[in-house]
Amino acid sequence: MSTNVPEDAAGLVEVARRAAEAAYAPYSDFLVGAVAVAADGRRFVGVNVENAAYGSTICAEAAAIAAAATTGVRQIDTIAVGCLSVAECYPCGNCRQLMREFGVTRVIVQDPEHGVREHPLEELLPHAFGPESLS
Ligand code: THU
Repeated sequence: MSTNVPEDAAGLVEVARRAAEAAYAPYSDFLVGAVAVAADGRRFVGVNVENAAYGSTICAEAAAIAAAATTGVRQIDTIAVGCLSVAECYPCGNCRQLMREFGVTRVIVQDPEHGVREHPLEELLPHAFGPESLS
């Protein structure tokens, strides 16, 4: 975990938390938002979108990554996650893998003490399988 959390980290988590207000989570009532920051600085938000067939649920991080990719973004530097339901919410394993595909290096999450924490993706997904693993 990085001890020097840059100033923008708290702002990004706040953007993610605001996005989470629009989460579609009628089954879990667990409201999550995420923001993907592309290499060119553009921000793309996503929320969790649940489904009556529970397994079809889309996580907030996945939605943010898909929104970025939809506009042609192929390099995402940072993902910030905000949750309105609990104080601490880390991305699931599948979302960590989705982040790996688009080169995410920074993952910012809420800290239960009302601050934020920043992790290199490598710390959350060590020895990852990525695009270059195929060559
Ligand atoms: N969820 C996310 O959107 N992101 C996370 O980081 C953890 C979990 C969603 C999926 C589901 O809609 C709800 O939270 C409960 O798992």
